[in-house]
Amino acid sequence: MKPVRLALLGCGTVGSEVVRLLHEQADDLTARVGAPIEIAGIAVRRLARDRGSLPVDPALFTTDALGLVKRDDVDVVVEVVGGIEPARTWLVEALRAGKSVVTANKALLAEDGGALHDAATEGGADLYYEAAVAGAIPLLRPLRESLHGDKITRVTGIVNGTTNYILSSMDASGASFTEALEEATALGYAEADPTADVASAKAMGCTIKLLCIASRVSGPSGDSISVRVHPAMIPRTHPLASVGDAFNAVFVEAEAAGQLMFYGRGAGGAPTASAVLGDIVAVGRNRLAGVRSASESVYADLPVRPMGEVVTRYHISLDVADRAGVLAAVAGVFAKHDVSIATVRQSGRGDDAILVIVTHGAPDAALAATVRELQALDIVRSIASVLRVEGGA
Ligand code: NDP
Ligand code: HSE
Repeated sequence: MKPVRLALLGCGTVGSEVVRLLHEQADDLTARVGAPIEIAGIAVRRLARDRGSLPVDPALFTTDALGLVKRDDVDVVVEVVGGIEPARTWLVEALRAGKSVVTANKALLAEDGGALHDAATEGGADLYYEAAVAGAIPLLRPLRESLHGDKITRVTGIVNGTTNYILSSMDASGASFTEALEEATALGYAEADPTADVASAKAMGCTIKLLCIASRVSGPSGDSISVRVHPAMIPRTHPLASVGDAFNAVFVEAEAAGQLMFYGRGAGGAPTASAVLGDIVAVGRNRLAGVRSASESVYADLPVRPMGEVVTRYHISLDVADRAGVLAAVAGVFAKHDVSIATVRQSGRGDDAILVIVTHGAPDAALAATVRELQALDIVRSIASVLRVEGGA
């Protein structure tokens, strides 16, 4: 049986776990792929680095990644180095030469994924990157394969473990509350006084999460996709509200399947390597069968909707003067921009009055214009916070 030969680029947190799993699962992988998987070479930056007891021949290490990629005995390139360059050059070279690529490099895919897809098409090669999206969580394959008979309408994810950890600790307000808050403030995630938002979210039966959202929007001129990343309040009853610690989760809504949630570890050497191994098996099988995976769906051709046109709901906290007519003036600004108010709540009195307003859905540009105009009002001392509200009626 002719083996499938890998060039492994990078042998750090993820790469070393890829090596370990390839060794430990060798028999199973051979059975699944239909041929043994062999490492042809491993490119690293520092040959002298102590790599512990990695189950691999030290003679495989090289600092010449490009030379390794170009070798004739390499079928598949696995890139776990990260960064834009030189990773892009290596991967474009591999794909154009017809070598399949498995990568965990989210930065490169976000920056120039199109160039990689073009090179894959040009070379007739596979480009797989399950590990680059929510770490260990199988997401791309379920979306691309299991759900390809369905129409996906919305994907909402918690894909930043660090931020989720902070927000979860803040929400839980246990012993780590102050620590999480200080850390969040130092990192620039939190408002100067974020306690008000957290308390307000609780009062509304919500919790705050950093969400990435891609949704399909139908309009008179056809369908488009809205894509955004921002903190948002979500109801505590929403499945994403229960995602705590550093976990990742992705909530998928499809027309026929309904609501699905994928949950798991979004980072870490072994979890991420698990996703890389899954891709290695998939491209290995494809190579033996002489096929490549299906190209992207028609979703890829849908235009991205400008953020200003995306319909969202806002939760706005205003520090206001507490006297007659203030609410009327504030409400007038919302009315002027055709933004409908869902609820209004006041806390405090006199110099400490805070108005908390939650809107119905309105185009983001109208909401932003409303906030700008409120800021200019004499009666508004300051805008304490503006948060979007997601995941409810
Ligand atoms: P590390 O920093 O731990 O490892 C990077 C590896 O790349 C090291 O082995 C390093 O060599 C090697 N390297 C760096 N520059 C070069 C170069 N110019 N030529 C050859 N080799 C080079 O990174 P991670 O393993 O954490 O991450 C790798 C990728 O996986 C990134 O794209 C990251 O975004 C992605 N990822 C990581 C996750 C995680 O939890 N760690 C989760 C999901 C994705 P040396 O060993 O000699 O220093
Ligand atoms: N998805 C990851 C996280 C990013 O949980 O933060 C790891 O690079």
